[in-house]
Amino acid sequence: MQDEDQIRFNKVVNDRLSRKYERLHGDIFNNIEQERLRKALKAAAEAVRTGAEPIYALDYGCGSGNLTGHLIGLGANTVSADISEGFLDLIERNFSQTGLSEVLAINGKDLSGVEDARFDLVATYSVLHHVPDYLGIVGEMCRVLKPGGVIYIDHEVHESYFDRTKEYVEFLSRARPRVNLRRYLRLLLDVRGYKHIIRRLMNPRYKREGDIHVWPDDHIEWDKIEQLLISESFEIVSKEDYLLYNSIYDVDVYNEYKNKCVDERLLVARKQI
Ligand SMILES: C[S@@+](CC[C@H](N)C(=O)[O-])C[C@H]1O[C@@H](n2cnc3c(N)ncnc32)[C@H](O)[C@@H]1O
Repeated sequence: MQDEDQIRFNKVVNDRLSRKYERLHGDIFNNIEQERLRKALKAAAEAVRTGAEPIYALDYGCGSGNLTGHLIGLGANTVSADISEGFLDLIERNFSQTGLSEVLAINGKDLSGVEDARFDLVATYSVLHHVPDYLGIVGEMCRVLKPGGVIYIDHEVHESYFDRTKEYVEFLSRARPRVNLRRYLRLLLDVRGYKHIIRRLMNPRYKREGDIHVWPDDHIEWDKIEQLLISESFEIVSKEDYLLYNSIYDVDVYNEYKNKCVDERLLVARKQI
């Protein structure tokens, strides 16, 4: 698909998904992941050296407001940006009463219209693998940060995910329910979902939520992101590889493996003053 078509597809899909997004994402909206995220964002906000108080933050690809909620909880004035009007409507409904929330409709290609050095913190979570030119967007995030500002990139797979190490395969087979009857029943009853099965048969890389860079030969390349940040005069503040908790996992098995294997990366970097 051409980049423009891919972005249009993502917009339509996410508009339609917006109301049920949180119900579909047990990999994000569970207590273990939310606590990890809360602590990580707090540390990133504390790494800001722009002198601003309160900080001005951008949540790029905000969805239903996963990061937005945490950023507002930290007292940040927050701009939630997305290509999906459905998600931006949700953000307005859920956060406008805080007085700390603005929304921004974006084109999915760049941050044109946003001036240079506007933000103290720019954060994105589970978005880059949906963006055709994801390195271009990272470049745009760098541009709109002030010197001393911090970029936070989270919930993108770590390359080792594709290696399927022995420990990781073992973890998945033990942590996931063996026969998830509820899931099979839901799939069977979701007659409208049959069109996705047909599309997948026609295009094995079809993803109903518009994921693109999620394949062994086309995935987020963290070394390229790091090189880009360094070329834009950023210093790496922290790099954290972690095993993502999903609400379908057995929590005891997760605890047993969380220090043995990883599948996601968080990268935090600061623009030099
Ligand atoms: C998996 S959701 C993540 C949402 C949110 N960040 C969260 O933490 O739950 C992906 C988000 O990226 C947005 N998106 C898709 N393509 C995009 C693009 N090219 N530029 C910006 N956002 C995009 C979608 O509308 C959706 O809100």
